[in-house]
Amino acid sequence: MPRTTLPQTLLILKPDAVQRRLTGRILARVEDKGLQIVGMKMIQISRALALRHYGVHRKKPFFKSLIQYITSGPVIVLAVQGKNVIAITRKMMGATFGSNAEPGTLRGDFGVSDSFNLIHGSDSPEAARKEIALYFKSDELHAAALSDFAWTYDLSEGKPV
Ligand code: RTP
Ligand code: MG
Repeated sequence: MPRTTLPQTLLILKPDAVQRRLTGRILARVEDKGLQIVGMKMIQISRALALRHYGVHRKKPFFKSLIQYITSGPVIVLAVQGKNVIAITRKMMGATFGSNAEPGTLRGDFGVSDSFNLIHGSDSPEAARKEIALYFKSDELHAAALSDFAWTYDLSEGKPV
C-alpha cells in the first residue's frame, strides 16, 4: 500500500453534542464520508487550553461565552485524515450559526442555536497543525492507512484520487 501524506484536521464534538447524545451520529457521518479517524479522546477542556485554542477570538463580543461554553462539559476531540479534509469537514459542519446552516449539514440538521453549534473544525492547514498539536501527542495519532484504503481511493496513478 503506498505511503501517502493525506492532510489532517482537528474536530471537536462540543459539550452540547455530548450532552445531547449526538456524538455517535456525528462520528458516523465522518466515517460514512470515507474520512479516517486517526486520533480520538474524551476530555474536558481547561480554561487555559480554551484560551489557547480560541485566542484568535479574544477581542470578539462572544469570547467570554465561547470560553464558558467550550469548557462547560466533556467533549470528544478527533484528528481526522483524508483528501481535502479541511474543506470537506467545514462543508459538512455547515454555517457557524445553526439558525442559518443548510439542511444536510451537521449544524443544519442537528441544532438551531447560533452559539451552541455542536462541532468545531480547523479552518486552514496552519490552524489544523496547531490545533492537532494542542490536543494530541504524536503517539496518540494512528495515521496508517486502513484496510479499505485501496477501495476508498483510486490508487492506480500512485496517489489517492
Ligand atoms: P469553530 O471555530 O468552533 O469551528 O466555528 P466557526 O469557525 O464556524 O466559527 P468562529 O467564527 O470561529 O466562532 C467560534 C465559535 O464561537 C461561537 N460563536 N458565537 N454568538 C455569536 O455571535 C457567536 N459567534 C461565534 C460559536 O460556537 C462558534 O463556533
Ligand atoms: Mg473557527
